[in-house]
Amino acid sequence: MYRIAVIGGDGIGPEIVAEGRKVLEAAADRFSFDIRWEEFDIGAERYLETGELLTEEDLKELSGFRAIYFGAVGDERVLPGVLEKGILLSLRFYFDQYINLRPVRLLEGVTTPLAGKSPRDIDFVVVRENTEDFYVGVGGRVRGRDRATHEIVRNLYNIRFGIDCESDADEMAYQIGIITREGAKRVITYACDLARRRRKKLTSVDKANVLTDMYGLWREVFSEVCGNYKDITTEFAFVDAVTMWFVKNPESFDVVVTPNMFGDIITDLGAMIQGGLGLAAGGNINPGGTSMFEPIHGSAPKYRGLNQANPMATIWAGSMLLDHIGETAAAEKVLAAIGRSIKDGVVTKDMGGMSRTSDVGDYIAALVKNM
Ligand code: NAD
Ligand code: IPM
Ligand code: MN
Repeated sequence: MYRIAVIGGDGIGPEIVAEGRKVLEAAADRFSFDIRWEEFDIGAERYLETGELLTEEDLKELSGFRAIYFGAVGDERVLPGVLEKGILLSLRFYFDQYINLRPVRLLEGVTTPLAGKSPRDIDFVVVRENTEDFYVGVGGRVRGRDRATHEIVRNLYNIRFGIDCESDADEMAYQIGIITREGAKRVITYACDLARRRRKKLTSVDKANVLTDMYGLWREVFSEVCGNYKDITTEFAFVDAVTMWFVKNPESFDVVVTPNMFGDIITDLGAMIQGGLGLAAGGNINPGGTSMFEPIHGSAPKYRGLNQANPMATIWAGSMLLDHIGETAAAEKVLAAIGRSIKDGVVTKDMGGMSRTSDVGDYIAALVKNM
């Protein structure tokens, strides 16, 4: 018996998570285990009513679950960043989910915009660092006489631009990225172990040619860690070039390890080459703690409540959840059922089909039971 917490969240989140639950229930039936779900009312609605994002109590309760199944947050009535930082990032940080695992895999029967590429060419995994870099939340805005509290930054600003922040019209904003030796080491070690179980190739993505301090440290740690994995082929790539290589030669990637922000950006690109955001799943993993599984797309508010959104990314994330808790046969079955649903043409509009969100969930759940 597994206790799984559910946070549907905003926009299409609740609808797609409902389909994911259907499919995981079917897998539990088929493979003889039980899931006890508990829903958490966390998201824009509650925030607008009560001002609460994540409470101490939420966090305490969530800590007792084997895993969290997450839809999406983001709502047009709330300023950008409030829900994203106050809920999603807070969960990732609180549970120290330092791995963001994002497979990029083209399934049979899915159309990729890359001409001439087939499922054999597009099958890699991005391991995105999930707790550091520009996501640490160290930043501020300095305006006129606030400067006393930001003396160091003001001095830098003055040197760089010759502006003194004397008048209230002068304003600047800064946001600082942080990479720690330990933070880099643990994610790179995870990526090395993963590469060892796959095709034994690992690519590091960074921008060490410009952000020399942060990514200089990242490179140093990468070389040190990989020194212990002589059976793996390693390479460095700059993030700008990587966006080009993802499109030109996706077959050259096996495992890609990247600092947080570049990982965010390149996985939306990864999603498109594997058939769209509606198909891209991810896991926020703390190998020794509470992990959380979600589609990588957002709350797509324009599709809310229309029964039109693609639930496959969320169902795929459910498969990753099953794999994580050790139900590997069930996890494989769910992924195979997604593949079969695609072959049978039971897909939503974004994939060129006519099926509704709930049709796709029903169909995949039935396949999981009977296929
Ligand atoms: P988005 O991923 O929500 O949507 C972008 C577009 O992708 C949509 O308009 C839609 O055309 C398509 N799309 C995404 N998911 C789909 C699905 N399941 N089925 C069919 N089409 C789908 O990104 P956005 O529009 O930039 O952001 C909307 C909100 O979501 C914002 O508030 C943003 O901050 C938030 N967001 C949340 C998460 C998260 O919770 N993990 C991730 C990204 C964005
Ligand atoms: C993602 C999202 C989040 C991120 C946002 C919503 C905080 O874009 O999961 O990719 O930047 O990590
Ligand atoms: Mn993103």
